[in-house]
Amino acid sequence: MKMNDQADKLREIIHNLKMRKDETVSQEKKRCRVITVTSGKGGVGKTNMSVNLALVLSQLGYKVVILDADFGLANIDILLGVSPRYTLLDVVYHDKTILDVLCQGPMGIQFVSGGSGIKEVIDMDHLKIDILTKKMSFLDEIVDIVIVDTGAGLSDNVTHFIYAADDVILVTTPEPTSIMDAYALIKTVCSADKKPNIQLIINRAENYKEAQQIGEKLCLAAEKFLGARIRQLGYVLSDITVVKAVKQQQPFVLSFPKSSVAKQVIEIGHCLVDEQNRQESNSLGIKGFLDKFTKFIKV
Ligand SMILES: Nc1ncnc2c1ncn2[C@@H]1O[C@H](COP(=O)(O)OP(=O)(O)OP(=O)(O)O)[C@@H](O)[C@H]1O
Ligand SMILES: [Mg+2]
Repeated sequence: MKMNDQADKLREIIHNLKMRKDETVSQEKKRCRVITVTSGKGGVGKTNMSVNLALVLSQLGYKVVILDADFGLANIDILLGVSPRYTLLDVVYHDKTILDVLCQGPMGIQFVSGGSGIKEVIDMDHLKIDILTKKMSFLDEIVDIVIVDTGAGLSDNVTHFIYAADDVILVTTPEPTSIMDAYALIKTVCSADKKPNIQLIINRAENYKEAQQIGEKLCLAAEKFLGARIRQLGYVLSDITVVKAVKQQQPFVLSFPKSSVAKQVIEIGHCLVDEQNRQESNSLGIKGFLDKFTKFIKV
């Protein structure tokens, strides 16, 4: 299927599901919403979720940029089959603008490759951080949603992305190890004075019931033992379609737009921008995100 046909199919499916494009969004938004996608355990589907969700949100009318903030392996480019020319570091060291480092993905989504560069951002002096913040703040004017795809685990770097974001999507599979690591992450990042807005996605579930039960248990435990209010955002079933799409280096919402997994991500995208969700998300924009991020790394 050609890229244009794929885009049409996705559009049609979203339309058929009566998912209303919010026409007012780009006019009323002055600051973009920054959403960090993270997990306790690695390999649970964060990058696939980030990319496919970005495409769905783009189809719902939002201008979306993905920040590839995985330290070790930059994966967004591999999943999209696109090679970035520059990374975020070129903004600071080679006088590139933020527009120069935005890499074009399918259907209008864009991504910035952080790659190993993010680690260097953390070691930057104040002057360079100022340059980075000023240049990146331009995203507030041109973008509605920034999705930050992080590496797994509880390293300091990942927690900074969690605290700095307006919203956090926590991905877990139904495996006990993945759930325990998700719980450990919630325990680490939630305290009396820090309450990130965490929303849960159960990925690779066997069926809806399993996803629902596991999500409920985790949310209840977080509330009861950690005083943390986590919202269930949605689920994606385990499906060979995802593996096939990864092999083709094409996001599954494009290559298999009629698959059940594509429909589940469309559902998640819709929930993420529904009225309640947007009200609960107190958006500080990319400027707010960077201010908080640098405050955390400099203390
Ligand atoms: N719903 C699913 N059904 C079947 N396989 C899946 C599903 N989601 C993810 N996978 C498989 O898991 C692999 C890892 O997914 P992905 O790279 O998105 O995880 P990740 O959390 O970003 O990993 P990392 O922690 O290394 O960054 C995919 O390549 C795919 O093979
Ligand atoms: Mg990843």
